[in-house]
Amino acid sequence: MQHKGARRIDRRPVTRALTAAACALALCGPAAQETRALKDLVPGGWLIGVAINQNQSDERDTAAVDLITRQFNAISPENLLKFESVHRQPDGFTFEAQDRYVAFGQQRGMAVIGHTLVWHSQTPAWVWAGSDGGLADRATMLERMRVHIATVVGRYKGRIRGWDVVNEALNDDGTLRDSPWRRGIGDDYIAKAFEFAREADPGAELYYNDFNLATRPAKRAGAIRIVKELQQRGLRIDAVGEQGHWRLNTPTVAEIDQTITELRATGVKVMITELDVNLLPPTAPPAPGQPREPAANPYVDGLPDDVQQALARCYANAFRVFLKHRDDITRVTFWGVSDGDSWLNRGRMNYPLLWDRQRQPKAAFEEVTKVLMTKS
Ligand code: XIL
Repeated sequence: MQHKGARRIDRRPVTRALTAAACALALCGPAAQETRALKDLVPGGWLIGVAINQNQSDERDTAAVDLITRQFNAISPENLLKFESVHRQPDGFTFEAQDRYVAFGQQRGMAVIGHTLVWHSQTPAWVWAGSDGGLADRATMLERMRVHIATVVGRYKGRIRGWDVVNEALNDDGTLRDSPWRRGIGDDYIAKAFEFAREADPGAELYYNDFNLATRPAKRAGAIRIVKELQQRGLRIDAVGEQGHWRLNTPTVAEIDQTITELRATGVKVMITELDVNLLPPTAPPAPGQPREPAANPYVDGLPDDVQQALARCYANAFRVFLKHRDDITRVTFWGVSDGDSWLNRGRMNYPLLWDRQRQPKAAFEEVTKVLMTKS
């Protein structure tokens, strides 16, 4: 303890002080590496995951690979296992990079997640096309779905821990989205997808995944209806994933809390599957050839400290709620490794994750680890 009025004198030579300052500015990477690992701090049995891109699963982005290996015990494929990546043509599957993704996780003893089998997005048009140029009939579309699921899930049987079987089937008001899957097959396309996934790998966990479940109670009620219907049909469903594409002030802590409670009441577990916090104002992209409004991209020169601290508080608050529900939650996955990797940049400068563009831990990382260390 210092006496009142005493001055702490830094006796380090100037050069060492300068080196330390450079490290503080994150100019010397490895020395500033984080000393704690999320995977060591989360409650026992929890998965803490990250979505990885192909540069990472192919081990070209070595700095990210080191970070992923040190910090996480689960991976999701950001794009590689989507329909258009794995099954672009009717009679041709692509598995090279996908096999490397699965091996990446297995070699590191991680839980490997599959994302996603049935979705309206990133799915090639042939999947829904009929011979007359309109939609395929129910039997044709069901058979395409079955072959896709049997082939992809079957290939990784026993190696992929769990699958997002159906992604984003709901509108914000809780009704079923009018996707081509639904128009072609009918409302039971969801049940059929779960049935096919169960057949293809009876040991895999099966999930329903969607966004805005925390901010839209009606949508959450829709997800609960989906779960109950699957249960009534005797189909396997293990968890609901709230994607967790959140903003600084929304959802509120109370909304997150309520969401976990309500989803869990169905009997399935809850996962936060694509967590990130968007710091940019919502805006439409500029018209072709037009410059972007500066106000749409406010942090091109860096993130002001007050926003950095607000982000840290936001993450800390979320993790406090997750810990409160530690027995209801099985996994929290971030959608990207570092700010530079995030899908939320899209031509702007966003800062949604726990590591910055130099792969240095941000204040949000420190705060999340502090919260995790308070668990008993
Ligand atoms: C995003 C990827 O991150 C991007 O690289 C891609 O261009 C579009 O898809 N909900 C999902 C994810 O379920 O698959 C999406 O991933 C983000 C929104």
